Formats: sequence, structure tokens, C-alpha cells
Amino acid sequence: MRFQAHEGISVMNILVIGGTGFISSALVQRLLDAGHSVTIFNRGRRALPFIGAERLEVIRGDRSVKGAFERQLRGRVFDAVYDMIAYSGAESEVAASFFHGKTGRFIHCSTVSVYMVSTDVRCPITEDQARAPLMEYWPGNPFGMEYGISKRKCEEVLWNAHDEKLLPVTVLRPTFVSGPGDPTRRDYFWMQRIADGGPLLIPGTGEYRFQQVFIRDVALAFASVLDHRDSIGHAYNVAGEEEFSLLEYLRTLASMMGKNPVIVSVPQEQFDQLSFSSNPAGDVFPFNTRCTAIFSLDAIQRDLEYRSTPFRQWMAKTILWWTELERGPSMGYDRRAEEIQCAEKWMKSVEDQRIQTLNG
Ligand SMILES: NC(=O)c1ccc[n+]([C@@H]2O[C@H](COP(=O)([O-])OP(=O)(O)OC[C@H]3O[C@@H](n4cnc5c(N)ncnc54)[C@H](OP(=O)(O)O)[C@@H]3O)[C@@H](O)[C@H]2O)c1
Repeated sequence: MRFQAHEGISVMNILVIGGTGFISSALVQRLLDAGHSVTIFNRGRRALPFIGAERLEVIRGDRSVKGAFERQLRGRVFDAVYDMIAYSGAESEVAASFFHGKTGRFIHCSTVSVYMVSTDVRCPITEDQARAPLMEYWPGNPFGMEYGISKRKCEEVLWNAHDEKLLPVTVLRPTFVSGPGDPTRRDYFWMQRIADGGPLLIPGTGEYRFQQVFIRDVALAFASVLDHRDSIGHAYNVAGEEEFSLLEYLRTLASMMGKNPVIVSVPQEQFDQLSFSSNPAGDVFPFNTRCTAIFSLDAIQRDLEYRSTPFRQWMAKTILWWTELERGPSMGYDRRAEEIQCAEKWMKSVEDQRIQTLNG
């Protein structure tokens, strides 16, 4: 299915399911930049922000509608298919059966949450730990209990199809994806609070470690799979090579913004009782603050020659993007006054206790 382009690069005919969201649009741009012909399949609700769009074909369709692939993609074959938006075993079932015999590669966007629904994983978390036994159902799981289980089901379906030689599968598992335009606004949550000069209230001691990953590195990693045929049959963690505790992250971010905020730590159990600390979707405060979660990058470095962009380099761009224009409120910012009041009360009670101890 592959053919040689006259420039000497190996041009592929690639389908991206999704294609216009944060992660998938970065991938599509990367594939276009590499000279590939790209077809995107989505419902057409978002803009097409691409450069080089003359090699882009857009197919409108809703994968949640039965028979959508058959109707819109009948008779089509691809060198590679990226499924960027499968969230259930049923969706991956449909994709696996439809693309059987129609693609040379099938690359699935998974998540590190597949590990974080188990208590039985050991850091640095290696790819083989994705099937560790499930933890007892924990509705407050900061990695998303339902989400992690459903993404495991997607993988299970795909690995079965791979093992039965029906689909040549590669799986990538990104951690917190970040950068300009991140719709989850995780960094902006802290940037907006650092910028206002008020204290930063943090759940727990801020010592647990985590990794983020820059959107451009994710796009590069996903695209680089095509250059490495031996990545078929393998899964890869995709994360930044630098790891941070929340305290280190906040101090780095603040120093890059020229600020020095007071950081107030409230024990997690007490923090959980605060009315503004959670919403129906889970924790308001971004990043997991409940355990260390560090992912091994040995496999992706070895097989895909992956190197991540230095944190300060990409974060400088990200800070600029979020702060140069009015970006509206971050999660929970409408209750910032309560947050500040709580931080001040907490600081006062700690100070009162210290004075009592000194006097007692
Ligand atoms: N964000 C993170 O930190 C993170 C971390 C780890 C893994 N992930 C994984 O990243 C993927 C999501 O990335 P993303 O949020 O940036 O989104 P995205 O991959 O860019 O996906 C959104 C795209 O899917 C299309 N779409 C949505 N529903 C559709 C449907 N029913 N039928 C056809 N097309 C549909 C959207 O266009 P229309 O709306 O126009 O249809 C848009 O093109 C997921 O697989 C998630 O598990 C994310």
C-alpha cells in the first residue's frame, strides 16, 4: 500500500479518526509536515487549523452511529490508521473489525490511566503492568476509574485482534498532555493563581511525583511509530523525561513567571472536605495529588528514539500562550476568594499552634 514519493521520502496514505482536537490535530499537522497524505474522520464540529491542507481529506462521520465507517470509508485502504478517540471496548471492536485487511498499521491512543486503576503497579511503571489486577472501585480516582477501565477494554480488544493476526496494533499511552491550547487547562489552573499573587492552596504535602508531556512530543512520538515497523505489537508510555513533585512544579512555574507565592499545604483528608475541592467530574485541583505516578520511558527511548523537549523550554511557550491574552477562568476560579480565605485561615491556625507550642 505504501509508495515512494519523488522527493525520496516514503509517503503514506493515513487515516486519523478524530483529527481536529488538541492531540489529534497536532498529530495531523506533524503527518502533513512529514509529507504524508492524511484523511481525517470526524463530525465536523471544529475548525481545520492546518498548514499544508492540500494533502488533507476530510470525511464527515460520527463513529457512535452504527455503520458510520462502512458508509463513509467503504472500499478505502490505508497504510496506517490512528484511532485517537476510542473510549470503549465496543468502539475498538467496531474499529478492529472494520479495519481488518484495510490497513498496514493500526495505532491506538490509550492513556497511563490504564495502570492507575490498579494498586498493584510499581514505579517507574513499565508497559507490561497494564494488566495488573484492578483496584477496588474508587469513584474519586484522580486518573478516572471508569476511564481507565474503559481504555483497558479498548486495548484488550485490540491486543486480541493483534494476537489473532487480524490487525497490526501499536498502542501509545500518554500521561498529562500539555502545551498551548490544552483544553484541560491544567497548567493554566496554577498560572492564573500564581499571577493573581494570592496564596496557593495545595492538597497534601505536594511531594508526590508526576510527569507531564508536551503536545509536540506526543505528536512526534505518535508519528515516529510509522518509521519503526518493529513497534507493531508493542505499547509505549509517552511522558516527559523530567519528573516533578507538585511543590517543585509550582516553584519552577512561579519562578518562570517572576513570582514567589506562599504555598499552603492542607492534609488531603481535610482538603477533601472543602466545598470547592471537587466537582461532579472529580478533583478540581489538577494533577494527581494522591500518589506518585512515574512511567518508564525505556521502551519508547529504545524503540522510537524518543527524547522529550526540556520542561522549561516548552513551558515558557505555554506560559506565554496562556497569559498573553485573556483566557477566561480556569477550573474553580470563580471560587478563588474562598480558596484564599481558607489558605489564610489555615496559615493562621498553623501559626497559632506554633506559638502555643513555643509557650507551652
Ligand atoms: N488530554 C490528555 O492529557 C490525555 C492524556 C492521555 C491520553 N489522552 C487520550 O487522548 C485522546 C483524546 O485527545 P483529545 O482530547 O486531544 O481529542 P482529540 O484526539 O483531538 O479528539 C477529538 C477529535 O475527535 C472528533 N470526534 C469526537 N467525537 C467523535 C465522534 N463521535 N465521531 C467522530 N469524530 C469524533 C472531534 O471532532 P468533532 O467534534 O468535530 O467530531 C475531534 O476531531 C483520547 O484517546 C484520550 O484517552 C489524553
